[in-house]
Amino acid sequence: MGERTGSRSRRRVAPRDPRSPREYAARNLRWWDRTAGWYERFHRPSLDREHGKAWGAFRIPERQLRLLGNVRGKRVLELGCGAADWSIALSRDGARVVGLDFSRTRLAQAREAVRRARVPVTLVRARAEAIPYPSAYFDLVLSDYGATTFADPERTVPEVSRVLRPGGTFVFAHASPFRSLAEHLGSDRLQQRFVRDYFGLGVLRRPESVEFQLPYGEWVRLFRSNGFSVDRLIEPKAPTTRRSTYFSSRDQAWARHWPVESIWRLVRSGPAPRAAARRRKAGRARSGVGIRQGPPGPAPRRAGLRRRR
Ligand SMILES: C[S@@+](CC[C@H](N)C(=O)[O-])C[C@H]1O[C@@H](n2cnc3c(N)ncnc32)[C@H](O)[C@@H]1O
Repeated sequence: MGERTGSRSRRRVAPRDPRSPREYAARNLRWWDRTAGWYERFHRPSLDREHGKAWGAFRIPERQLRLLGNVRGKRVLELGCGAADWSIALSRDGARVVGLDFSRTRLAQAREAVRRARVPVTLVRARAEAIPYPSAYFDLVLSDYGATTFADPERTVPEVSRVLRPGGTFVFAHASPFRSLAEHLGSDRLQQRFVRDYFGLGVLRRPESVEFQLPYGEWVRLFRSNGFSVDRLIEPKAPTTRRSTYFSSRDQAWARHWPVESIWRLVRSGPAPRAAARRRKAGRARSGVGIRQGPPGPAPRRAGLRRRR
């Protein structure tokens, strides 16, 4: 068979790059704007546990895991803050908190919660891949199934490294690679066998949204190349006593055999290597999904699903 030539083939559209923020962020933004009300109603009982200071789908108390330490007086960024439960709780503990999210609808929920809580949380509408703050500004960045699940880690990890001061901490909870290997993305159900290639992990396209996952070795490579050292990796076993709103009882039983989520605690150990800085620059130049960023600076702007975690 010969190669196709002529005007028809020239007009053919190049395949879309699933790792382009234009592709995945626009899709995820639509999804979050549409489902924010449902998510809030369905998961509010879980999110309220421990007054918002709890991790992951099983809401493991921070007082048990002790990942954040004393936050009083610290500059803290919550990446993909949703209704700002963590931001409010840490502000109550004396932190100077910024809650960042790209969804107007979720930020409206956050604004209302902050107003009710009467705490000083700065809310910013921006993408996690382009954080509108200067380098080395924050002491702590956290994300509880926030933007670290829904944005390309090859973009967010360098960006978090940039805004963290040396010695600063990055804590985030997300799905484990085990779950990503065993999950049927259409139904969200966990299978008793792996249903995709470990080496093919990367972009996980659900019918209406896009998530990201890496093999363990790739996570560690990404952290280290961006100046992070791994302090802890927690792989919680599902409790028998409490039901999560994020899992069916069948999937919660699955999570008593294999770790369904990972909670990483990373320390920004030193200057990010040059290669990472170059990638960051290139990433910023390529980014942009039509969200107006707040100007860089201390306070850019004030606004004062069963699953999908
Ligand atoms: C599961 S919620 C996490 C918030 C909170 N911890 C919770 O469980 O409700 C995920 C949040 O991340 C936000 N998000 C997803 N991708 C993002 C991105 N690229 N930049 C900023 N926010 C993003 C969504 O709008 C959503 O509010």
